[in-house]
Amino acid sequence: MNKILKIAHRGASGYEPENTLISFQKAIDLKADGIELDVHLSSDGVLIVMHDETIDRTTNGRGEVNKMSLKELKAFKIHNSKEIPTLIEVFDMVKQHCFINIELKGIGTAKPVIDLISFYSKEKGWHHDNFLISSFDWKMLEETRLLNPNIRIGVLTEESIEEALAFAKKIKAYSINPDYTLLTKENVALQQENGFQVFPWTVNSEEAILNIKSFKVNGIISNFPDRI
Ligand code: G3P
Ligand code: CA
Repeated sequence: MNKILKIAHRGASGYEPENTLISFQKAIDLKADGIELDVHLSSDGVLIVMHDETIDRTTNGRGEVNKMSLKELKAFKIHNSKEIPTLIEVFDMVKQHCFINIELKGIGTAKPVIDLISFYSKEKGWHHDNFLISSFDWKMLEETRLLNPNIRIGVLTEESIEEALAFAKKIKAYSINPDYTLLTKENVALQQENGFQVFPWTVNSEEAILNIKSFKVNGIISNFPDRI
């Protein structure tokens, strides 16, 4: 049986606060094959790792990420001690120990992410398989493909496997990353026959993980990568 990749959702966020350096380190310690994270831009154009558009839910501050500078964002704490990380800080910590699935959340993140990846590829010897770019915003995925013909792209969907499959073909994606409740054994096989990896999210309970594994997916995105 082929190996099923363990992808740590927002880091090992079942154990440590989501989208923090400590949650990514925990994922590496748990031997995850990849980490998933979300990015937005700060007001001064820095790629910030944060799921929501605001910092309200996960930090001791309030406000929209893209209305604050890096310096302002760094003054807030996640769970009283941890800082909001930048994407560069994550790259420098992960150091190719596992691949990085960057979910483009904030408007305008495609170009700076591709620029940063180009820099790490040219100057630091990183490879395309160190990255997977995903988004629910398919326009940003089209932009990503135009900016870089080789980068691995994952088409996120919470609505339709059929539409995701058609779009994945159009942009020459690497994977389809669906809400796991959309999957059946048959549609997983269809996606794979069309040449795509299938990486469902966010599969957390032992029962759901067992069920999804029986569909022979290529990887599973989970808050608990060690359960996969
Ligand atoms: O990448 C899969 C998953 O992270 C998408 O949903 O809301 O957790 O970003 P969300
Ligand atoms: Ca995400």
